Amino acid sequence: MSWGKEFVELDKAIHDRASFDCGEVELNAFIRTKAAKHMKAGISRTMLLPASVPLPDGKYPICAFYTIAPSSISRETLPKKLIKKLPRYPVPVFLLAQLAVHLEYQGQGLGKITLINALEYLWEINSHMRAYAIIVDCLNEKAEHFYSKYGFEVLCCHNGRARMFMPMTIVEQLFQK
Ligand SMILES: CC(C)(COP(=O)(O)OP(=O)(O)OC[C@H]1O[C@@H](n2cnc3c(N)ncnc32)[C@H](O)[C@@H]1OP(=O)(O)O)[C@@H](O)C(=O)NCCC(=O)NCCS
Repeated sequence: MSWGKEFVELDKAIHDRASFDCGEVELNAFIRTKAAKHMKAGISRTMLLPASVPLPDGKYPICAFYTIAPSSISRETLPKKLIKKLPRYPVPVFLLAQLAVHLEYQGQGLGKITLINALEYLWEINSHMRAYAIIVDCLNEKAEHFYSKYGFEVLCCHNGRARMFMPMTIVEQLFQK
């Protein structure tokens, strides 16, 4: 099966959450049971790329997804050279809270496509409501390698995970027209 043309917002009436499997229990559980609830509660938004063809029940399998939310970080966690220009209160950031590709599609460039789509989406939001950077909390070393490949840098350790960040000035270089 191939993936569809565009990322859309998760809709549990249309997308088959139960069949999503990226190989990570925590991320599978998130898309299956929490993502829609968190959207309803107004605390995050999940975007996904559906398969091009629906299942017999009419629902579309999920090939990849990402979840974003507004957040803030302590100014002191940033590298010293960046701190100087910032005021002494929490710094607004975008949290790329989840990102995963179904096992069936891993290793075919979809992780890269999904990350670029997430960065572009956050760049668009940034034109309306500014944030200083995009942060991700890496589930494991594999994720850390993946994000560092695209320019994310380690910021600190957060809840036992490597927290990485990319300043919006870097994102701007990717998408400015
Ligand atoms: C991490 C993940 C999103 C990568 O998706 P993918 O579709 O397999 O990645 P791609 O095929 O787009 O690969 C993109 C690049 O990352 C590299 N890459 C992929 N997995 C990697 C890994 N485990 N370690 C290092 N590099 C990796 C690829 O070599 C590729 O580089 P290239 O373009 O130079 O060849 C996917 O493996 C996944 O969903 N894993 C489980 C969930 C997870 O850990 N998510 C991270 C959120 S914390």
